[in-house]
Amino acid sequence: MSETMTITIDGREIQARPGQTILEAAEAAGVYIPRLCYMKGLTPHGSCRVCTVLVNGRPQSACTQPATPGAVIENDTERLLALRRNIIEMLFVEGNHFCMFCEKSGNCELQALAYRFGIPAPMYPYLWPKREVDASHPDVMVDHNRCILCARCVRASRDLDGKNVFQFVNRNGHKRVAVNAEARLGDTDLKVTDKAVAACPVGALLKKRVGYAVPVGKRLYDHEPIGSDIAAAHKK
Ligand code: FES
Repeated sequence: MSETMTITIDGREIQARPGQTILEAAEAAGVYIPRLCYMKGLTPHGSCRVCTVLVNGRPQSACTQPATPGAVIENDTERLLALRRNIIEMLFVEGNHFCMFCEKSGNCELQALAYRFGIPAPMYPYLWPKREVDASHPDVMVDHNRCILCARCVRASRDLDGKNVFQFVNRNGHKRVAVNAEARLGDTDLKVTDKAVAACPVGALLKKRVGYAVPVGKRLYDHEPIGSDIAAAHKK
């Protein structure tokens, strides 16, 4: 049996290994599929749908969909770009994201995707939800205004840190990340070095006393759009 299979992404044939997801196979071949809730090393969650591709004409999340022999995948198309743009815009309006004041600005994956997709401002009305900030921990704060419910902190705390500090509570429009304590983050056993803290793609989980430490011009996404590293790594 062949060890790899051939799949096609935007007309280009690439090789995928059995067990690889479409996103993983694409990345290994230097093809960037936008993503937000996906993070290497964590079990895929498949919730944000930013990675949606068409597989043999049907929409699937590339981070959860296994590669199958002969699959024909569309990724970089106007239709999918529009869909991803809509998702990003909805994420901006359903939280309170003030990039100009946010410590994560320049290093934020949501902001970087908005830049990559050329979103100057969301076309949907802002919802301005009332959300809390929990600064009770000595080294880490949670700003629920910026949380996009990607579950990266939930998964990282559970699977990488072995702690279960974070979990979801409530449903639908009331869903939010809660901490595993009677009261606040400061009552948990979270450490600033926990992988859960670094896993946050936005400014919802922030280390204290290091905000704005990296000057503008030297931040992660100041020069190249998010995802550029994937194509660049393949060319080396
Ligand atoms: Fe695939 Fe979020 S990255 S659903």
